[in-house]
This record gives sequence, structure tokens and C-alpha cells, in this order.
Amino acid sequence: MSKEKELLIKARQSMKEKKEEVADDYYRLQYHIMPPAGLLNDPNGFIHFDGEYHLFHQLYPFDTTHGSKFWAHLKSTDLVNWQELPLALAPANPYESHGCYSGSAVDNDGTLTLIYTGNVKDEADNRETYQCLAVTEDGINFNKLGPVIKNQPTGYTRHFRDPKVWQKDGQWYMVIGTQTIDQEGRVLLFTSADLKEWELVGEVAGSNLGQLDDFGYMWECPDLFRLDDKEVLIAAPQGVAAEENLYNNIYQNGYLVGDLDYQTGQLEHNGFRELDQGFDFYASQTTLDEQGRRILLAWMGLPDQEEYYVERDNGWVHTLTIPRVLELGADNQVLQKPVSEMKKLRGAKEEYHNLKLQDEIIKLAGINGDVLELIAEFEIEDAAEFGVKLRCAADGSEETVITYDQETSELSFDRSNSGRGEDGVRRCEIDETEQLQLHFFMDTSSIELFVNDGKKVFTTRIYPQPSSQDIKFFAHSGAVKLNQVRKWELNN
Ligand code: FRU
Repeated sequence: MSKEKELLIKARQSMKEKKEEVADDYYRLQYHIMPPAGLLNDPNGFIHFDGEYHLFHQLYPFDTTHGSKFWAHLKSTDLVNWQELPLALAPANPYESHGCYSGSAVDNDGTLTLIYTGNVKDEADNRETYQCLAVTEDGINFNKLGPVIKNQPTGYTRHFRDPKVWQKDGQWYMVIGTQTIDQEGRVLLFTSADLKEWELVGEVAGSNLGQLDDFGYMWECPDLFRLDDKEVLIAAPQGVAAEENLYNNIYQNGYLVGDLDYQTGQLEHNGFRELDQGFDFYASQTTLDEQGRRILLAWMGLPDQEEYYVERDNGWVHTLTIPRVLELGADNQVLQKPVSEMKKLRGAKEEYHNLKLQDEIIKLAGINGDVLELIAEFEIEDAAEFGVKLRCAADGSEETVITYDQETSELSFDRSNSGRGEDGVRRCEIDETEQLQLHFFMDTSSIELFVNDGKKVFTTRIYPQPSSQDIKFFAHSGAVKLNQVRKWELNN
């Protein structure tokens, strides 16, 4: 039996053995993509191919650590109902012995083709990286074609990974994350006629290039695509210093908008902006579908902080975000909106209209729960602060608090009393001063909050007790109108 086959069988067996331990966990999500067991991280190979969405993700099937990664594989016709397929890639060959790391998928003239990083480490922890191809004829079994780029170009370190490939005017292009020998994070552009012979075009963006001073020692997981008449580069810089409300997570995930010069590789851009204001968002990847939508998914977690994620004790860890459509808004801001297919999950509905809160905190009959979609539309009056408390315990011991502060125009997301797991507060400024729309997707241990039609998003894991299910609305020192509250139970 081939080493690949042997590893795939071992992985499947190991995940099967943990199935019951995993299934008993309340924090297992109801409508998000999770590993059957083991550790999930980056989404990979997201593509709309032959009428179906294929999505892969990084997986260590044997336990909840960052071991040698496999690629797990799912597919869907609607982005909501996903079918789990057999694992696609196992780290079986010498050029990928320490992991089939992140990468992307393309449609190469009708053949679904994966491009990923083969990660190799020796006993002294020295790294080598190979960019590799794998193809499938049946959409399930993958044949590895081996490395097409062996190690990094001169001037860069072996932190050289996460190829994202696309085709333009019959030519292939690839962005890849790396680090210069002076420890500056960079994204490089390569080009190829056949996916096999690749040529370096140049540096797209990075730390201490253009206006990005001291912006990280490594840039991971790049993605580059056109949105309206602009190019958007997504990247995950590591080593960016926190600045007030910005860059508060261990590593960042954000974007640059501008114009790409395909001859030099350079992106003329207007600075880096974070994609998400929450605690748990990283390594996002996009694809274009047949309807022309640019859809993004991310890992709802971060590297190097495994201890924050409580489900780790139950044989699995991490989840992906729900899929979001990207749009370019005013001032070239990238907006994120939940895909409309999410409405398929909607069950029983409760709604209220034209309420007013005046120095009070209220509950509304039927507006409570843990797995739900909630839309609250506020019209701002003179309340100094107002907002929503989610997952509140009856005895007051737990709550997750979203507060708008009128004086600072800041919205805060406070998980200091959210139960188990890591606590803290994240804040961001809101431009609108008259209305505030809060659109929540809640699952057993996650909250994704879309503010004012996707202008800001907070993505966060929380670990309250199962019984903490109250929702409260509040206004302090003045009044706010609550024009609309709508809640749907979500059924998978
Ligand atoms: C980002 C990352 C990638 C790498 C992968 C390994 O989270 O570190 O750079 O390819 O995870 O699992």
C-alpha cells in the first residue's frame, strides 16, 4: 500500500475513534464547518467548479495540535449544506513530510487542480518549502504531481508558502506569502503558462514597502482578486504592533485595495485595513462563483493560542466562519455580507417593531436562544450608551455585551463574562451617527456580528454554559429607538 493511502486510512480510523467524545460536546457548532476530530485551521482550495463549491481545509486528524497537516475536503451546491468527502491530501512524500500546507484550487481546462505548499523540516528544525500540484479526475481522489517550485527565490527565507493561483488572459498568476532575509513580510507575484514552469514577477506589497512601515516579519495566506475596477490583496501579516483599537490579535488578517501592475507585480494601494474587528479570524480565502460573487471564508481562530479554545479538551478544535460576499463600498472599503443562502437555515421567527428604551434593560418574549440569527435596528437618540447582551445567564453570572458609546462613536464587543475561554474587549469606530444595524449569526460557541450592512464585522468564539440563553436590550443615560428586532432559530 502506498504511504499516502496508509496515512489516509490511519487518519480516518483515528477520527472515527474520537467520534463519540467529539459528538458529546455542546460547543460543537450547528451550522459551521468543523473537523470530524483533531485540529482545523486555514480554509484551502475554495473553488466553484463544475457547478459545485469545493472547499478544503487544513487538518491535523490525530490530535488538537498543529501536527503535519492533511487537506480535508467538502463540497456543496449552496454554501450552506456541505457534504464531507474523503480526506484529499496526506503528507506522504519527502517534499511534504511535515505537512501539506495551505494553498488554492484552479480549474485547469476542466481538471480540478490543487496548488499547495509542501512543508519539510529537518532535525534541527530547518525548513524547506516546495510548491506542489495535485489533480483529480473524479473530484475525490487526488494524484500528486510533485513540486513545481523548489525553495524560495534569492533574498527570501524558507518561510515561503500558501500559493493562491488564478488565470487572466490565458496566463496563470500566483501570489505567495514570504519573508525577506531581513525579516520583512512580503507577498510575491509569479507567472506561468502551464502551472509547471513559474517565473518571479516581483513584490506585490509588504512591510516597509510603500506606506507600510514596520508591518510584520512574515505575511501568510495571500489572496489577490479583482473587485469592481480595483485589485484587492488579502494577507495575514505577523508581527504588527497593536495601535489602540487596531491590530489587537496575535496576528492580523486584512486587505489592501489598489491597482496591480502585472509587469512589475507591484500593487499601488492605499494602506492596510483589517477585515474583522473580533477575536478569532485568520487566513481567509476567497473564490469567484458563477453568479460573479466574490465569496470569503476564514478560519475562526488564530495560530499559537490553542489554550484559548475550550473544545480542545473534547478531541477537536476550531471552525470556519460562515461564507460572506465581498463588495467594494465607499472609500474602497471591503464590505462583507452573509451569503443570501444562509436564509435557508431560518426556522421559527419572532419580531418586534417600534420599541423605545429609556434608561432600562429589557427582555422580549421569544427573543432568546443559542443557535439563531438576530437583527436589531436602532435609531440613535440621546442615550449615552445602548446595545445588546447575548447568552445571558439567569443568575447574571454570564453575558456577552455589545455596546455603542455615543460620545466616542465606538462599538465594543465584550467577552469578559462570556463563560470559559479567553476574555477581553474589542472596539471599533462606527461612521454612521443616526442608525445602527446589528446582524448576528450565533452558534453554540460563536458569534459573527455584521454591523451596518457589513461595514464592520466582529467574529468571535465564546464558551458560555448551555443554559445561558437570555438576550437583553439596554439604554443608559437617555433613550434609543429599537425600530426592529427580528430573530430566527437556525436549523441545520
Ligand atoms: C496559517 C498557516 C499557513 C500555513 C498553514 C499550516 O495559519 O500558518 O501559513 O500554510 O497555516 O497549517
